Amino acid sequence: MPPDDDLIWRPLGAADLDRVEALHRAVMAGLGPEVVKPETRDFLADMLGPRGRMVGVFAGEALVAYGVLQHHVPASDDPRAAIGLPFDVPLMKLAGASVALAYRGRGLQRALIAARVRLALDGVAGTPPILFATSAPANSASWGNLLAEGFAIRAIKPYYGGHLRYVMVRNTERMEQEGHMLLDASATQEQAALLAAGWRGVALRDGPSGPSLAFARPAAKP
Ligand SMILES: CC(C)(COP(=O)(O)OP(=O)(O)OC[C@H]1O[C@@H](n2cnc3c(N)ncnc32)[C@H](O)[C@@H]1OP(=O)(O)O)[C@@H](O)C(=O)NCCC(=O)NCCS
Repeated sequence: MPPDDDLIWRPLGAADLDRVEALHRAVMAGLGPEVVKPETRDFLADMLGPRGRMVGVFAGEALVAYGVLQHHVPASDDPRAAIGLPFDVPLMKLAGASVALAYRGRGLQRALIAARVRLALDGVAGTPPILFATSAPANSASWGNLLAEGFAIRAIKPYYGGHLRYVMVRNTERMEQEGHMLLDASATQEQAALLAAGWRGVALRDGPSGPSLAFARPAAKP
């Protein structure tokens, strides 16, 4: 549910392109591609039209947050081969979110993740799509919100011209409740080794030197 009564949620359309681009450029100020992928106007137009859907959050006339759901995922982004997911299941990507500075810390990104999961899954008659997202290890606000909404870190690999990203897939597995491993969020090599051994990143924790990541193993099938 949207967390704030003063905000209006609605699907975005082609007529919203200028305000979406303006918010994207505003949140990118001071952020490099190693933290957030800079988007082109053409990409945003595609996500408002033929290849995706977008949800917007307004304060009066002002767009203060949006989230992207990409229906047509390019082969270069497709994580299925790298993590052994089936190719005969549709794939959709949560392909970015922005929250205006003055509206941060109110849970809007988390609510936008939940809204896009609903958009992707509601009314699906056949096999539900695999939903995934990418998130920079340095962007703990973003991957923490994806973990909190039921995504799990499955791999860590270069994306978008060589920038390290967690590959996060909406989790449908039952996980072991005990024997978790905790690694510092900056320990990406050790994380990669755990992920390669079948562990999943499942929760953001406060660690001794900043954010930490809890890893769990999938539970054995009964
Ligand atoms: C990542 C982002 C979408 C999070 O949005 P959000 O809705 O504010 O997320 P949350 O409400 O969970 O807040 C996350 C954290 O932001 C920080 N935060 C809170 N208020 C803040 C403010 N005024 N300014 C900056 N950061 C703030 C806090 O650390 C907060 O953590 P907390 O829950 O422990 O307080 C937003 O920071 C953003 O737009 N960043 C730039 C684009 C981006 O990274 N997009 C995601 C990847 S594509």
